[in-house]
Amino acid sequence: MDLYHPSESFVDRANVKPGEPYEALIAKASADPEAFWSDLAESELHWFRKWDKVLDESEAPFYKWFTGATTNMSYNCLDRHCKTWRKNRAAIVWEGEPGDQRTLTYQELLRAVERFAAVLKAQGFRAGDRAILYMPMVPELPVAMLACARLGITHSVVFAGFSAEALKTRILDLDAGLVVTADGGWRRGNIVPLKQAVDDALGDCPGVRSVIVYRRTGNEVEMTPGRDAWWHDLEADVTAGCPAERLDAEHPLYVLYTSGTTGKPKGIVHSTGGYQLQVSMAMRWVFDIKDEDTYWCAADVGWVTGHSYIVYGPLLVGTTTVMYEGAPDFPEPDRFWSLVDKYKVNVFYTSPTAIRAFIKFGTEYPERHDLSSLRLLGSVGEPINPSAWEWYHSVIGGGRCPIVDTWWQTETGSIMISPLPGVTALKPGSGTFPLPGIAADVVDLEGNSVAPGGEGYLVVRKPWPSMFRTLWGDPERFRETYWSQIPGIYFVGDAARKDEDGYFWVLGRVDDVMNVSGHRMSTAELESTLVRHAAVAEAAVVGMPDELTGQAVIAFVTPIQGNDPTDELAAELREWVAQQIGKFARPKQIRFSDALPKTRSGKIMRRLLREIVTTHKVSGDITTLEDLSVVNRLAAQQDED
Ligand code: PRX
Repeated sequence: MDLYHPSESFVDRANVKPGEPYEALIAKASADPEAFWSDLAESELHWFRKWDKVLDESEAPFYKWFTGATTNMSYNCLDRHCKTWRKNRAAIVWEGEPGDQRTLTYQELLRAVERFAAVLKAQGFRAGDRAILYMPMVPELPVAMLACARLGITHSVVFAGFSAEALKTRILDLDAGLVVTADGGWRRGNIVPLKQAVDDALGDCPGVRSVIVYRRTGNEVEMTPGRDAWWHDLEADVTAGCPAERLDAEHPLYVLYTSGTTGKPKGIVHSTGGYQLQVSMAMRWVFDIKDEDTYWCAADVGWVTGHSYIVYGPLLVGTTTVMYEGAPDFPEPDRFWSLVDKYKVNVFYTSPTAIRAFIKFGTEYPERHDLSSLRLLGSVGEPINPSAWEWYHSVIGGGRCPIVDTWWQTETGSIMISPLPGVTALKPGSGTFPLPGIAADVVDLEGNSVAPGGEGYLVVRKPWPSMFRTLWGDPERFRETYWSQIPGIYFVGDAARKDEDGYFWVLGRVDDVMNVSGHRMSTAELESTLVRHAAVAEAAVVGMPDELTGQAVIAFVTPIQGNDPTDELAAELREWVAQQIGKFARPKQIRFSDALPKTRSGKIMRRLLREIVTTHKVSGDITTLEDLSVVNRLAAQQDED
């Protein structure tokens, strides 16, 4: 396989250089991880009070970092930079889908955050309270996040593509007292009615005493007196100035819900101190950020990628972060490239699904624009197939930009496995090596490392600063899901291979979690949604390989007697899922069947269904199957499609 080496000019300017500097970094990290991280914490961030202990393992797996220290994420992202030349540097360069533009300098962003924090304070919210942010991709979303962080209000951003139902589940689980939203957001020229969804959700959420509404799209919305208020009205009533609270390093900065293997989403809890350190280091090591860079992570703030690498990471290192509100193909499929050209983006980070969509649109779209400002590209969210990698490298990167294929998860908070762009020789499709200080490995179920060339389970052997601390309200599930498969070691849930040269290749999930367009989806959550529909007796959901989205959702459904398996019912069920979870979760196909393959003890054999949708036949062990004819019928049905 061809190796891709960084150019000499890239290496010359790289933040981490090959040879001795890189080896020294790795050696220090492995010899004494605590000294390694604490030295970086000291040089990288502001602490109001220094820690007593770097890593507290006394209640493992509930690890704590920098105990006794006080700090503040909002202070580190803003106040600190405003004491330097950076105060007039662009912090956020934003473009709305209709083409409107705004730029906020660090000083302006700090003022906006202080003002909104003052609003929250005036409403009586304080450290320890929880806020749900259900917002479009406008600068006020980072403003709200940073204002919460400033006061110690734990925020939970709910992706604006989630439905009212999904929003309600999250509000209730978090017992949030505050919801920040907007009248709407723009998506492919249409208004997404966010406030309407909040109203629908809040009927059953008595704990919410305040809803703050930012005016974005100008559509009519209903305001409930005593509960709802406009962002701009509240701001008019406060005087600016709101200092950052001195918060414990372990203070929960945010909770972000992600899919697991049951029907109930998991609230991933992130801390303040350790999280800010590791995302900051990833910006320097992986994205190789320079003072003059313009950086764009084309994700949505509603997912962890947006938290760590649109908002917190870039602002921590004082770079300019580009934010775009809408769809990549609106009004035409060259929108991303027009933004790269217009804002002279230097570092660009996106997902393999987006890259595959661009390949399908054709090279004419990137060719319309000057992409020569780009010097580094990134990929995240799912394995990138080598052909998509090559296209990204040559068509977008002009053959000159290294690609950092970054492996991480909502749980890890920050990038864990990735090339260092000035150091690592790249193999398309491989995330290459763990970052300094990250003890990732590929093991068998006893926890033994696999031999070179072997496959196994991806794990992390030692705690890392940006690790999630627990699951909101469910510490037992935290321990059970992640720390008990191989006792004492973090079990990722991905399969991986380590090749003869020690390169890591992440192969995909080993549990019933699918990865659709880089979004995690739980089979159990989709199944329980489908069986809640009045016409459905049983449902089993599997992922089918898909050229564009990585995996696509296929739902096998047995209707309740008296409901015909018609196209209309299939359409209704797809719509039902969109309404209950969000449009992005809509199954690609509904396949009706009068029965589902089950073991004699009644468990649905998803493995067989997976085989049917991928290979069109069943070859694995079917000795535990109760009724073989069901499988034969489903396989025959597949052949007809
Ligand atoms: O299966 C891995 C895949 O995405 C999962 C994490 O999903 P989520 O928590 O939604 O976070 C996505 C953005 C960080 C992982 O368990 N994954 C993520 N990045 C990669 C990847 N698989 C292969 N290569 C990657 N670079």
